[in-house]
Amino acid sequence: MSDARIAVLISGGGRNLQALIDHQRAGHIEGDLVGVISNRADAGGLSRATAAAIPTEVIPHQQFAVREGFDRALADALRRHRPDIVVLAGFMRVLGAAFIEEFHGRLVNIHPSLLPKYPGLKTHERALAAGDAEHGASVHFVTPEVDGGPVVIQGRLSLRSDDTPQTLAERVMRDIEAKIYPQAVAWMARGALRLEGGRVSFDGKPLAQPLSMHDLEPAFQ
Ligand code: GRF
Repeated sequence: MSDARIAVLISGGGRNLQALIDHQRAGHIEGDLVGVISNRADAGGLSRATAAAIPTEVIPHQQFAVREGFDRALADALRRHRPDIVVLAGFMRVLGAAFIEEFHGRLVNIHPSLLPKYPGLKTHERALAAGDAEHGASVHFVTPEVDGGPVVIQGRLSLRSDDTPQTLAERVMRDIEAKIYPQAVAWMARGALRLEGGRVSFDGKPLAQPLSMHDLEPAFQ
C-alpha cells in the first residue's frame, strides 16, 4: 500500500496536530500529512502546519448562511487532497450527515472523555463535578451521532484531589491524547484498523472492546 494521504481538520491550538507531525516525521506513521484545514483563521495549529511545510487552508464557517454550505466547501477542499484518512484534531464544528457519509470509514475524532461518558463539551469539568475516580480520552470513527461513533482506543488516568479543569485537560492531552491519537492514525495508515459494516476491525478481527494504553506500540508509549 502506498503511503496513506492524511488530512487534518483543526479549530484551535493544534496540540493533537503537533503530535501527528512529530510522529510522522519520526517515521512512526506510514503516511503523509497532505493538508491542514481550519474553520478559524486564528487557529494556532495553522502555524504549526506551516512550520512543518504542510499546506493549509482556512474555510471560515461564518461565511456560510447554512451549515450544509460550510460542509460542502469543506468537502470540496478535502477532496482536492484525495485523503485516505481525515483526522478531526480539535475541530469544533458539528459535521452533517452528507459530509460524514462521503468520508465514512476514513473520518476519525478524539474526544476528551471515556466515551460513552460525557459526550459534548466541558468534559473535564463534568468528570471533576461527578467526583469520578478516572477520566481520559477516546478515539472514535465519526458517525452522524455527535461523539457517538465506534471507539477505537481509550486512555485513562486517575483524577487528583487538587485537579482543576485546566490541570486535568493538560494531563489528558499530554499523557493520553498525544499518544493514542498518533497510534490510531498509524494503525489506520497501515490498514490494521478499519471500520467495516459499522464495526471496528483490528488486524482483520472485530474489536470486541476499545484498545487501551497497554496496546500502544513502543514508539507511541
Ligand atoms: C483537545 O483536548 C481535544 O481532545 C478536544 O479539543 C482539544 C483540542 O486541542 N477536541 P488542540 O487544538 O489539538 O490543541
